[in-house]
Amino acid sequence: MKVFELQNGFGLDRLVMAERPIPVPGPREVLIKMRAVSLNSRDLGVIGGFYYPDMKFPLIPVSDGVGEVAAVGEQVARFRMGDRVSGTFSQRWISGEPTKEWLDGLLGGPLDGMLAEYAVLHEDGLVRVPEHLTDAEAACLPCAGVTAWQAVVAEGRVKAGDTVVVQGTGGVALFALQFAKLNGARVIVLSGSEDKLERVSRLGADHLVSYRATPDWDEEVQRLTNGRGADHVLELVGAATLNRSVAACRFGGQISLIGLLSGHEVENFRLVPTFQKRIRLQGINVGNREMFEAMNRAIAFHRLRPVVDRTFSFEQSLEAFRYLEKGTHFGKVCIVF
Ligand SMILES: NC(=O)c1ccc[n+]([C@@H]2O[C@H](COP(=O)([O-])OP(=O)(O)OC[C@H]3O[C@@H](n4cnc5c(N)ncnc54)[C@H](OP(=O)(O)O)[C@@H]3O)[C@@H](O)[C@H]2O)c1
Repeated sequence: MKVFELQNGFGLDRLVMAERPIPVPGPREVLIKMRAVSLNSRDLGVIGGFYYPDMKFPLIPVSDGVGEVAAVGEQVARFRMGDRVSGTFSQRWISGEPTKEWLDGLLGGPLDGMLAEYAVLHEDGLVRVPEHLTDAEAACLPCAGVTAWQAVVAEGRVKAGDTVVVQGTGGVALFALQFAKLNGARVIVLSGSEDKLERVSRLGADHLVSYRATPDWDEEVQRLTNGRGADHVLELVGAATLNRSVAACRFGGQISLIGLLSGHEVENFRLVPTFQKRIRLQGINVGNREMFEAMNRAIAFHRLRPVVDRTFSFEQSLEAFRYLEKGTHFGKVCIVF
């Protein structure tokens, strides 16, 4: 089978197409013929050496993918041949609170990921995907979808009448917009692009704020909420925006700490307004299988569709990563096999 693997070093230049034998599923394992993957900013971080500087090569990158069950090992009870399935982002977090093992079970680093014609996973690390989705759409769910689900629904408990601030128009952001609207919230979307703001308004965003034209967007959030502040801010940018997110929040509001697009260490974080306002900072680590399954039920029932910006072929995988790196995408970038 053909795979893309990182060979002997980091960087997209070291990501090459290679041949490996088709893996054979052992007891309770499932062989999946891959149909589509979606790319996440984390995949670029793994390829660039940010997440696992001591990684052993070769590694097949990419955490998120969907495929069809092509063979099952002995004692497999949860799936049958032909089922359309997706791997869970962590193969070792089914439900409840995470333990430190969840980190050892991440697809696309440290475990081999989905950018291969076939993959073998334990049946416990798989879920069925909603039938109405295309393969590319279904491939968007494991990381970006579940992250937004944990932030908005499972931990965020966003409810009708709440105001939610979403930063940007990338993969996590657009899922968060969809889930917040589903729960009856008012959503303020920040973007650096007028064109993307126009597109996001068609997805149901209630207020659009350009963080370029309005760098003091926290003040704009306060104005839009008549001085009350947002109930919930999804912090996707990280270092550069955390103080503004605190300023944009209402007293007793919540910030979901998700992204690090502007860096992973925060200097000059203002503690005083955070505790004076009794802001709840909630770390988000994608999510577990139980959240993935709950999200799929909601997506299937409401016939939601992830926003796919562009698809590439398997052979064009490097081009797909370079496109993601440029940051001009709206929603998800996918590779269809
Ligand atoms: N903790 C977790 O569980 C978890 C899970 C998934 C992702 N993440 C992290 O979350 C972040 C977003 O991931 P993603 O996959 O959604 O990324 P993505 O698809 O690449 O989206 C990035 C978008 O962020 C927006 N952006 C950039 N700088 C901004 C700023 N200063 N203010 C507001 N928006 C800004 C841009 O939108 P515009 O072009 O519209 O401005 C850009 O398109 C990444 O750091 C990723 O590593 C964390």
